[in-house]
Amino acid sequence: MRQAQPAILALFGATGDLAKRKLIPALYDLHRKGALPRPFLILGLGRKPVSDADFAAQAGAALARFGAGGEELRDVEPFTRLFRYQQLDPADSQAYAALAERMATLWEESRMETRNALFYLALPPSLYAPTADGLHAVGLADQSDGWRRMIVEKPFGEDLASGVALNRNLLERFEERQIYRIDHYLGKETVQNILALRFANAIFEPVWNRSHISHLEVTAAETIGVEDRGGYFDGAGILRDMVQNHLLQVLATVTMEPPVAFDAAAVRNETAKVLQSLRPITAENIHEHVVRGQYLSANVRGDDLAAYRDEGGVAPESRTETFVAIRAHIDNWRWGGIPIYIRSGKRLPTRVTEVAVHFRQPPHQFFQRADGAAPGANRLIIRIQPDEGILVEFGLKTPAAGFQIQNVGMDFHYSDLGESPIPSAYERLLLDGLLGDATLFARSDAVEWGWRFVQPILDAWATDPEIPLYGYPAGTWGPPETKTLFKEGGEFRYPCRNLTTDGGYCAL
Ligand code: BG6
Repeated sequence: MRQAQPAILALFGATGDLAKRKLIPALYDLHRKGALPRPFLILGLGRKPVSDADFAAQAGAALARFGAGGEELRDVEPFTRLFRYQQLDPADSQAYAALAERMATLWEESRMETRNALFYLALPPSLYAPTADGLHAVGLADQSDGWRRMIVEKPFGEDLASGVALNRNLLERFEERQIYRIDHYLGKETVQNILALRFANAIFEPVWNRSHISHLEVTAAETIGVEDRGGYFDGAGILRDMVQNHLLQVLATVTMEPPVAFDAAAVRNETAKVLQSLRPITAENIHEHVVRGQYLSANVRGDDLAAYRDEGGVAPESRTETFVAIRAHIDNWRWGGIPIYIRSGKRLPTRVTEVAVHFRQPPHQFFQRADGAAPGANRLIIRIQPDEGILVEFGLKTPAAGFQIQNVGMDFHYSDLGESPIPSAYERLLLDGLLGDATLFARSDAVEWGWRFVQPILDAWATDPEIPLYGYPAGTWGPPETKTLFKEGGEFRYPCRNLTTDGGYCAL
């Protein structure tokens, strides 16, 4: 395992939800694996007055609640000894001098020869630029006595203009190579494995194009509603929350050209290129390309689920979409002319994220299924979560006289690779941040290309009240109108929770 250099992780928003649920457990997993640098300190920053000891105790409590993925906690005490705390209001520009002083003391006390620091901004987006300003003003962006990096959480802007402005503001204070924009989907093992599947093998690439593939589907379905995030979500909607970032990044890994090397510059060049090739959807053709929906109340498996508009923090007349389906096109040599379907929603029947690659029918088909229909086309399903794995579907002869074809599947499950659980996305990304590897972080141009794609859709929705917002009962696959996006026939897949029961009896 590569070893990161000694550093301080300065965690803004240290007493918040993200820190407790994801970051502290991920750091603990790294600690347990011996992957954290030595020496290493975690300096919590927040507005609340908390002592070092109390913060360490809070970290221990967060671990007990959210850590270790059900495994037994051990070695917690040496881990919580890494914690320090400093009261700081990130909006107060005067507060950063004290932070610089505290960090200087900690670097010295812990005998870190180079003054490395990773700043993690688990903060509301409105505070990203003031925090970058504050750090810069007291010399903490300067790399002359150690590396200084900044991890920024999503959402990265609320629209194209604010995304561009945010990039500009941060780039006035930090260089692009110091800024790590987290998209936790890129930290998922199975998303990275799309690159391995494509570029570590010779059999897929020759057919990975418009000549052999009829269409692609990218789905991220969730069973949960907006939970306690109604206030945030009502101002965002699923297009901003899931598509602009996570799903476009997944799509880019599936569709990018082979990078010249596996490093941050080469991989992210290809990501930016393919996102740049997304054909803009216009106010004139939005009806043929986008269907949006909002969940209604329903009784799902015995539970009475509230309508979106009755969720806490949501406006009673809200027109925010909780479901979106898009027919997109990538205008380049590899993908020109074939549709790419993207779908995401809350309160759908099952939680599943996957990419489905649909191959073309053979040029001449003389076999049939038992019911007389043509055999199904080959499909490759890349299951990102849950039941992480890969399924290839093809037709084979049913054992009997004659030549009747049935669809069969060949599947691989990541769980077969070993006992150890798949590392969390945050674990991977925190370590990469400490190592200075930005390959799995979004670069400013990719973020902006993502906004350029979704902005015309947001504009059309904002200005044209005639564009329908369909209601769909919670626990269903969104509005049936999504079928209209499939002009050549067909429809979205209805995936099951388990990859291999796909197509048969479906566990939800
Ligand atoms: C977050 C979104 O970025 O991703 C949430 O804000 C969503 O709305 C979540 O639920 C999904 O992440 P995962 O890892 O559970 O698929």
